Amino acid sequence: MNAIDRESTMSRAGEAKEEEEEEYLVYRNPSEPVEARVSDLLSRMSLREKLGQMTQIDRSVADSAAIRDLCIGSVLNGGGSDGDAMNRASAADWADMIDAFQNSALQSRLGIPIVYAVDAVHGHSNVYGATIFPHHVALGATRDPDLVRRIGVATALEVRATGVHGNFAPCVAVCRDPRWGRSYESFSEDTEIVRKMTSMVTGLQGSPPIGHPDGYPFVAGRKNVFGCAKHFVGDGGTHEGKNEGNTISSYHDLERIHLLPYLDCLSQGVCTVMASYSSWNGSQLHSHKILLTDVLKDKLNFKGFVITDWEGIDRLSHPHGSNYRDCISATINAGVDMVMVPFRYKQFLEHLMHLVESGEIPMSRINDAVERILRVKFIAGVFEHPLTDRSLLDTVGCKMHRELAREAVRKSLVLLKNGKDPKKPFLPLDRNARKILVAGGHADDLGYQCGGWTISWQGSSGRITIGTTILDAIKGTVGGKTQVVHEPSPSPATLADEDLSFAIVVVGEAPYAESHGDNAELKIPFNGTELINSITERIPTLAILISGRPLVLEPEMLEKVDAFVAAWLPGTEGKGITDVVFGDYDFEGLLPVTWFKTVDQLPINAGHEPYDPLFPLGFGLRYNM
Ligand code: GLC
Repeated sequence: MNAIDRESTMSRAGEAKEEEEEEYLVYRNPSEPVEARVSDLLSRMSLREKLGQMTQIDRSVADSAAIRDLCIGSVLNGGGSDGDAMNRASAADWADMIDAFQNSALQSRLGIPIVYAVDAVHGHSNVYGATIFPHHVALGATRDPDLVRRIGVATALEVRATGVHGNFAPCVAVCRDPRWGRSYESFSEDTEIVRKMTSMVTGLQGSPPIGHPDGYPFVAGRKNVFGCAKHFVGDGGTHEGKNEGNTISSYHDLERIHLLPYLDCLSQGVCTVMASYSSWNGSQLHSHKILLTDVLKDKLNFKGFVITDWEGIDRLSHPHGSNYRDCISATINAGVDMVMVPFRYKQFLEHLMHLVESGEIPMSRINDAVERILRVKFIAGVFEHPLTDRSLLDTVGCKMHRELAREAVRKSLVLLKNGKDPKKPFLPLDRNARKILVAGGHADDLGYQCGGWTISWQGSSGRITIGTTILDAIKGTVGGKTQVVHEPSPSPATLADEDLSFAIVVVGEAPYAESHGDNAELKIPFNGTELINSITERIPTLAILISGRPLVLEPEMLEKVDAFVAAWLPGTEGKGITDVVFGDYDFEGLLPVTWFKTVDQLPINAGHEPYDPLFPLGFGLRYNM
């Protein structure tokens, strides 16, 4: 009897078993141990249902019949699900959409709920009106694991309020080269800093009562989401920072630099791990059996499920790349459990069924994958709480979360220069000055200060959501008699105005995500340096840089400015910046990455010899030094 016959016999037995025990289904009882529920449900599933559970599809192709009849395991919206009505949809609209998908799933033969997942990578960043926290690089500058945990708690609430069950976060990349387009998604170049910031996992997933009977280090509930440690492994260490590139290193260095944060995520019970698009010494992670199975599952005893990245199977290169079916075989046999297809799922399922029927993918591999998926669904509580708890809706963008984000902004700011004469600090600014100039294209642009992964995948300029720009915050901070002149690019007449006490010039990068952010020049865009130089000639100036990473700071410019603050990508709460530069709070931020002098030095990281940066890892001035 081959695997398929055995499988179909078992499923018939499972169906027969169901009739006998109509009144009692172990898998439906939350008081049963998770493993008992997993094995009971697995024994009732047909092969087709098992393969369906391994399939994640994009919401744009998710129809009711597919979810119900194919037993689809998961639905997502990748990036911001660009350019459609959802970008301005309310939290309730999101909940309605996801609950509709879920109701279809609950009508399936065994009523296995889907899990819906998003990239809430700095707050629920798809949803209009949600709190947008600073990106990871800024959180790394805070050196505050408990703050990061609290951000995880707040993010989980806002995500769950919209019916979403899982979050493709935290990214625990250790970014070794700022030319990488995803630098800002990394907490730091320093492994130990990243390890501390994995507290995000506990924030998102919650932590159970001590000694939980199942031994799982956490039990999610209505107010938690399951997390995803990504991108496994070495995504931040690629040659020249090329996104989806190749990390060339010994296994020892891969382990001590890039793998260690995953141990911290696993110890907090992270439910899922996402494979990296990148390669290690030329072998792609998506089909890397040693790293995905031998190391992550066997050696590190990971019990959740491994998911591909978006179209991760499609991006496998030769020899598999020539044939989709071969790519599926290589990926599943390497240890991937769920596939973010996300569009051509019918083709995927046909190939997968063929591969199992032919024995190229053993039934044991399928059962392992489905057990892991079911385990996460039971632990995450989606069988008991499949639909949105609408009472959470008012947490989305709530005052308490915005205050938390404002605290994070304050703690993330890094003061690189304060005064041309250290004995005469320039900051804090005088909030009762007669007349001040606010300049630069980033002073009044919410989209710019949020960066990528905000509403849309790449982010964009303008009032893309609800928040406070830096200009809004300045106007809300200065005294009633202070005149604020706002000119992104000041005219000569303005620059000649001798009544101006000082200027605040906010420059930086436009939003980007993934490969769109790969950059070998790393200059301040939009002639930011030239703008600063032109203003400093006439007016005492504070320069604020909005960026996902260190950029080239021309020595002359740095000499001319009176003060310089790295603000990273602060998100919606611009008041966190004025809280500090006007002196209500001191600076606390410390560089989470090395600030290079020139790109010719890259990669340059603490511990390298020679190490001659403009500002070293850990640098940061304070008022009260
Ligand atoms: C993207 C990213 C990954 C994200 C996924 C879903 O390509 O690499 O970080 O979670 O697709 O949007």
